[in-house]
Amino acid sequence: MQLLVNIDHVATLRNARGEGYPDPVEAAIVCENAGAAGIVFHLRGDRRHIRDEDVFRLKKNVIGILDFEMAATDEMLEICLAVKPDICTLVPEGREELTTEGGLNMESEYDDFEKRVIPVLKKAGIEISLFLDPIERDIELAAKIGADTIELHTGPFANASDEKQQQFEIDRLKESAILIHELGMKVNAGHGLNLVNLPVLIKHVPHLEDISIGHALVSKSLFWGLEKTVKEYMKIMKGVRK
Ligand code: PXP
Repeated sequence: MQLLVNIDHVATLRNARGEGYPDPVEAAIVCENAGAAGIVFHLRGDRRHIRDEDVFRLKKNVIGILDFEMAATDEMLEICLAVKPDICTLVPEGREELTTEGGLNMESEYDDFEKRVIPVLKKAGIEISLFLDPIERDIELAAKIGADTIELHTGPFANASDEKQQQFEIDRLKESAILIHELGMKVNAGHGLNLVNLPVLIKHVPHLEDISIGHALVSKSLFWGLEKTVKEYMKIMKGVRK
């Protein structure tokens, strides 16, 4: 299990004042120096946080795993193929949403992904990760289409309003992780994770590999500093399991 830090919201803060700081690339370097295994960024169609020039600078400066999160538009595919990240995580994207709101619907995406998206990413040798809700049908279709990895959407677990709801979401994530593993794919997870819910997730859900954490980690770093915050997350990952 390893930590990939999503640095989108360092760019959000930068863009709030139209200055060149804080620099998401500098943040990525600090995270890697603190021990993070890699960096995630989401280049959105509206460029609300990460911008094209950040992407190319991240590619130049990130030593570990670079995970390019994006909607599967022709525009993003072209940029992704030029950048050649280690992982491409495909997500649904809505203009009005504050953040990614759910996983891909594989039934509606299947034909388009099979023809237009998967072959070019495979040819480029980029690991293909699909961001999915813990739904059996979506996971089976992801395996059929040739995905390497599933990133399980942990948002509903993270936002569960009581223990019963949290247990329900944990059970779904656990069953899905087992299925993904049995189908020969890698199990990643992300969305809404923080210092409180992460230990619960990794205690109960098996086979987890890359954990992508952004908003809560970057927010905490305002008070603790980025280096210390990354190290605290990594302590949890090492302490709870393995
Ligand atoms: N994984 C995916 C697919 C996401 O869209 C996001 C949010 O950008 C994250 C992980 C990280 O979520 P958070 O910022 O809530 O930690």
